[in-house]
Amino acid sequence: MLGIETSCDETGVAVYDSHAGLRGHALHSQISLHRAYGGVVPELASRDHIARLLPLLDATLEQAGLGLSELDAVAYTRGPGLAGALLVGAGVAAALAMAIDKPLLGVHHLEGHLLSPLLSEPGLDFPFVALLVSGGHTMLLQARALGRYVLLGETVDDAAGEAFDKTAKLLGLGYPGGPELARLAAFGNARAFELPRPKLHSADLDFSFAGLKTAVLTKVRQLGPAVCEQSRADLAAATQEAITDVLAAKAVAALQRSGLRTLVVAGGVGANLRLREKLDAACARLGARVHYPALQWCTDNGPMIAYAACRRLQSGLAQARRDYAFDIQPRWDLSELEPPG
Ligand code: KG4
Ligand code: ZN
Repeated sequence: MLGIETSCDETGVAVYDSHAGLRGHALHSQISLHRAYGGVVPELASRDHIARLLPLLDATLEQAGLGLSELDAVAYTRGPGLAGALLVGAGVAAALAMAIDKPLLGVHHLEGHLLSPLLSEPGLDFPFVALLVSGGHTMLLQARALGRYVLLGETVDDAAGEAFDKTAKLLGLGYPGGPELARLAAFGNARAFELPRPKLHSADLDFSFAGLKTAVLTKVRQLGPAVCEQSRADLAAATQEAITDVLAAKAVAALQRSGLRTLVVAGGVGANLRLREKLDAACARLGARVHYPALQWCTDNGPMIAYAACRRLQSGLAQARRDYAFDIQPRWDLSELEPPG
């Protein structure tokens, strides 16, 4: 299965083999391209995907030791994501599938993230609770089976990754803010500042991060432009602590309510080591198991798309097409996904 990911600012290509596992993959991150603008510029993203995709495909096939005609199917990210960026992956995937006369599959980006821990742990199986924390989404789901995802809670405003990115910007850090803020936080004392933990004790499993952003803005203003390096690190640590406290507490509540004993974490924020520490400790107390994607599969990548497509095709889902009318769905709710069969 060839997988192509172009939903946002990473061009990812991979070949996944249902018997031999991951055969080859290549990735290009556009971080340096968008850094000057402090966020992703959609038009620049699309153009860069066009320039990168075919060279990455060549590199992937070479790594896999495969010719194009040896592929059995072609998959691409159908959505959600930036329309122009998605169109590049969809167009290339449709052309390739047509050229080699093989089926074409459109994959849901979040199902790719959701299944990414299984890339390294193929024995891991449904059902589980999933904490999906990326730049655009923050969700708790009950994953009952492939394609059967019940939403337990989600953010009512900013996503967790967005909270990291926006507060990092307030602290004068570069884009993307999450990893930068985490790096600075390592030198800080999280107790030096008191920040709110919105919805920590609410009865639902929803999240809210907009208030935290405002609280950080207030602290930044109080500190003024001559803020010392230690205070910045302390504020970064306090912010990371507040975000991860809420994420961990709600994930635990979701496990308790669902009665499930397996937690799967996915998405870019899943790379955060403080979040992992807290989830490890909380799950150990609960007697639950927690699984993370390998760090390199937390952010967007080709293997998660190839893998999700492989699972769908194997389970008999009639989504593979041969009409090669490539389509995209920039807005696509995970609950609209058809389960196989
Ligand atoms: O899943 P992803 O690559 O893209 C989306 O589909 O959104 O997630 C990107 C998000 C960004 O907001 C980034 O700041 C955040 O993940 N992120 C992190 C870390 N690494 C990436 N946030 C906190 N700590 C990290 N180590
Ligand atoms: Zn993503």
